[in-house]
This record gives sequence, C-alpha cells and structure tokens, in this order.
Amino acid sequence: MGGDTLNEDKRIDMTRAILVTGGAGYVGSHTVAYLLENMGNDLEIVVVDNLINSYRSKPGQKKPESLRIIEDMTGKTIHFYNCDIRDVQAMHRVFQNHLIECVIHFAALKAVGESVTKPLEYYQANVSGTCTLFEVMRDHGVHKLVYSSSCTVYGEPQRLPLDETHPTGAGLTNPYGRSKYFCEEIMKDLCASDKKWSVISLRYFNPVGAHPSGRIGEDPRGTPNNLMPYIAQVAVGRLEELQVFGSDYPTVDGTGVRDYVHVQDLAEGHAGALACFNKTEFTGFHAINLGTGTGYSVLQMVAAFEAASGKRVPWRVAARRAGDVAVNYADASLAARTLGWRARRTLADMCADTWRWQSTHPHGYAT
Ligand code: NAD
Ligand code: WQD
Repeated sequence: MGGDTLNEDKRIDMTRAILVTGGAGYVGSHTVAYLLENMGNDLEIVVVDNLINSYRSKPGQKKPESLRIIEDMTGKTIHFYNCDIRDVQAMHRVFQNHLIECVIHFAALKAVGESVTKPLEYYQANVSGTCTLFEVMRDHGVHKLVYSSSCTVYGEPQRLPLDETHPTGAGLTNPYGRSKYFCEEIMKDLCASDKKWSVISLRYFNPVGAHPSGRIGEDPRGTPNNLMPYIAQVAVGRLEELQVFGSDYPTVDGTGVRDYVHVQDLAEGHAGALACFNKTEFTGFHAINLGTGTGYSVLQMVAAFEAASGKRVPWRVAARRAGDVAVNYADASLAARTLGWRARRTLADMCADTWRWQSTHPHGYAT
C-alpha cells in the first residue's frame, strides 16, 4: 500500500485536491461550501465521512444531504467517500484516487457529556483515528494539515482573554477535551520529528450560525447539547424552554459567558490557513485561536435570538452544568497577524442566519 503504488504519470494528469475529513458535518460542510464558492476549478474537494453524526442520504442517494445541497448551490462536484478515518485500506484508496495536497481534519466525536460515559469510543475516533490519518498522509507524502481544535484545550482560564500562550491540558474535565489536547501534543511531536510537516491547529471558540442561504446549518441528533441550537429549537417550538445552567457566575448577569463565532467566519479562517501553506516560513506546528474576542452571556444570547427571530424563548434557571467555566473568550490577534483573518459577522448575523436555517428546517435536514 501507499503512494509508491501510484503511477507517477497518472498523478500528473490529476487535479489537485483538498481532503476534508468530517466534511458532511456542521463546520465541515460550511467550509466545503465556502471553498467551492471561492476557489477555482483547478482544485477539487474530496470528503471522507462515516456519517455517524450527519444526516444520511435518502434512499437511492449516495451523498449526505448537506453535501448534496452544496453541490446544488455551487454547481460543483464533491468527491465523497462514506468511510471511517480508521479504515486504513479505504483511506489509502482515497489518497490513490486523488492528488491530495493537504487535509482539513474535522472528523471527530464531539459530545462532551457522552465522552464521559464512552471514553474509549472518543479516544478511538478522535486520537487513534487522527493517528491513522497521519500515517496514511505520511505514506502518500502529504504533510499539510489544518486541524479542528477547540478552546476547550485551555481548560479553566488562568487569565483572559485566552491567547495561544495560555497553558493547555491542565484541569480538562472530560475525555472529549483531552482528546483534542492529546491530538495537539501528537501533532507537535510529529512536526518535531520531520520538518516536512506543516500543521495549523485552529482552536475554535463557540461555533454558531448557518450559511446565509439558510440551506445548510447545524443539525444535532437528539436534544442539543449546545446553547445556540437549543435556543433555536425552543424558538421554533420543538422544545419547550431553555434551562439556563447557573445564574450565580461572576458575570454581567450571573450566566456563563462565551465567545460565539459565526461558522461562515470559521470557514474563512480555514481558507486563510490553507493560503498559509504557500508561505515557506509556515512549517511546523501552529496553534491559532478562531474567535471574535467578545463574550456574551446566556441571557444576552437569548435576547439577541428573540430580537432576530421575533419569537419568545422561555427560560428558567437550572443548576450549573458540571465542568462549565464561568467566562471564556479569545485573544484573536494571532489569527489577524498570521492568517489575515478577523471574524466579520456580528451576534445579530449569527442569530439571523441560525433562524433562517432553523425556521425553514424545523427538523434539520429531515424536514
Ligand atoms: P460534526 O459532528 O457536525 O461533524 C463531524 C463529522 O465527522 C460528522 O459528519 C461525523 O459523521 C464525522 N465523523 C466522526 N467520526 C468519524 C470517523 N471516525 N470517520 C469519519 N468521519 C467521522 O461536528 P462539528 O461541530 O462540525 O465539528 C467539527 C470539528 O470541529 C470536530 O473535530 C470538533 O471536535 C471540532 N470543534 C467543534 C466545535 C463545535 O462546537 N461545533 C468547537 C470546537 C471544535
Ligand atoms: C454555552 C453556554 C452553558 C446549554 C462546548 C464544548 C467545547 C466546544 C464548544 C467543541 C454555557 C450554557 C448551554 C443549555 C445553558 N466544543 N448553556 N443551557 O460549553 O462553552 O462549549 O462547545 O470543542 O468543547 O464544551 O458551549 O453551547 O454547551 O454552552 O445555559 O441548554 O451556555 O452553561 O455557559 P460550551 P455550550
């Protein structure tokens, strides 16, 4: 197996490709849409996703709904493989079939609470899966990677705003968070072992929002764990009321504060990271925050969503959620300096775009 088996003459005729793992999911699908909307025809997009957390195609349809809609929106083709990143043989075939230049690695399990009850599943998918992907990349001479990391790697903030020099890994309260931290450590070791590697680990703060068309968006399975989709489902009448987890934090109104960032801004951040691979100085491991630098409380989010949707979002105070921090927001200046990236969309945009998606798709892609 491996790149050696590929006929070099065949490679010359192939179109350069970006491999997107987990590209059918929430952040991945928006990034795929953004890349197809903004890049030339000399690049193709290849998606690997096992559809464990994305809406399955209808009978007779080969692609997941998110990717089918993106193809419809852009008029471009997405090369889709329904496979697990841990399936070594299948992953080798993907690299043989396409001239992959770099990888954007979204594929992971991400439910914090579930990770506490299923740690092995999380470490298998998120850590083993990531190692398998890197082995296959190395075997095919592909060393450029954009990784989906998370502000969760910082744990309980020792200072705010959180900049990239803040310590990581200490006091992480769940296997999901640790899996993101472990992957970053593995990528540092990989970059130290071989100067060929260029890794940009994008530490997202709290991704929210949807494509401005309202045709793709976040479609959580079951009851949402995260605030914004929960609020949206209350507003659309799918859920009765929001439980506000704690009202006695040392914040503006006692509720938790987070740095919410529009998923379209995140998509632009990934495009900025890909552009960095053309700069020779951009080798080795780079961790970069993607956030707005501004925090909003739970009740500020509720008010903004009510304003954008014209719907009431009933709420009541409940106990604090285990493992939650009071306040979390980014120092996003490194992204501005290195990627030329700044979050451009406002909280009103985040709420309006979420509502456009939710109100037209009350049951997500199954609507
Ligand atoms: P998502 O669940 O919507 O997307 C992940 C995709 O990966 C899904 O389509 C799923 O089917 C796929 N997948 C999971 N395991 C796989 C495997 N073993 N093989 C192939 N495909 C697999 O999640 P998302 O919100 O789009 O998150 C994308 C990435 O960003 C994840 O790595 C996540 O940890 C990270 N992240 C997300 C957030 C957030 O709040 N959404 C915040 C910070 C970081
Ligand atoms: C936001 C705020 C809650 C739900 C999680 C992961 C993190 C990252 C982003 C992936 C908090 C409050 C929430 C509800 C509430 N993901 N809340 N009622 O916890 O900041 O981060 O997603 O990497 O790793 O932990 O996001 O959206 O769950 O919560 O009051 O029903 O909303 O307490 O203050 P969080 P969240």
